Amino acid sequence: MRILIYDNYHSLSKWVAHYIAWKINNAMPTPQKPFVLGLPTGSSPIGTYEELVAIHNEGKVSFQNVVTFNMDEYVELSEEHPQSYHYFMWHHLLSHVDIPRDNVNILNGNAKNLELECRQFEDKIKSYGGIDLFLGGIGADGHIAFNEPGSSLSSRTRIKTLTYETRAANARFFDNEVNKVPKTALTVGVGTVMDAREVLIIVSGYNKARALRSAVEEGVNHMWTVSMLQLHPHGIIACDEDSTMELKVGTVKYFKEIEEHALKNLPAV
Ligand code: GLP
Repeated sequence: MRILIYDNYHSLSKWVAHYIAWKINNAMPTPQKPFVLGLPTGSSPIGTYEELVAIHNEGKVSFQNVVTFNMDEYVELSEEHPQSYHYFMWHHLLSHVDIPRDNVNILNGNAKNLELECRQFEDKIKSYGGIDLFLGGIGADGHIAFNEPGSSLSSRTRIKTLTYETRAANARFFDNEVNKVPKTALTVGVGTVMDAREVLIIVSGYNKARALRSAVEEGVNHMWTVSMLQLHPHGIIACDEDSTMELKVGTVKYFKEIEEHALKNLPAV
């Protein structure tokens, strides 16, 4: 696993956005062979999306031949609701780039048959030959997408009940009222994320420090689902200093040293 430790959220976001743009350009995608990108919501990727839009506006990356799959969506929240992940994605990224609408895949939390919706999502990912790069964030309890502690590490897309901790953390987006946060969500599984050819996780802020320590310095464990990244052949964590507070000094020094080049140079787009 690569771990890139940036001084702050801004420089981490800048690197992640340049890395994604570089991967897209490098793949030279076509309509027949698009670049397949997995995407998260949450506050962690907002800086990355801003940078990606800026890179796109400079004419340095196109999303014409990019197909996206989002990680998750709340159940029974209207797509127009400002806290729905549909709204989030169009607001922060998709409306600002040249991606064709048909290339965007976000789980429908209002589908009549939610299990079928999840199965079809998995099938669609397969029909594109899998995901090239899955971008993610983590919860303070180490969840990826909505794979809460105890989730099977080989899980697929399905309906999940959210923990009180997650709903309380997300209450800030729902007038600080935990009861307004949906109790269930559709989410890709840990296995779905791990099937991607590459997984890039953004970790930012003090409140993620315990989760980062568990992901990096402890064993693979279903109580910290992000720790599954240890078994991925191409896993990257891009984090900021604040989130490293629980790591050993030696761990931080080690990764800063071996990633010196990546920390000083942005991927060329
Ligand atoms: C939600 C999302 C996750 C996200 C997490 C952290 O639970 N389902 O995909 O990683 O929030 O969000 P934030 O980046 O706002 O801390």
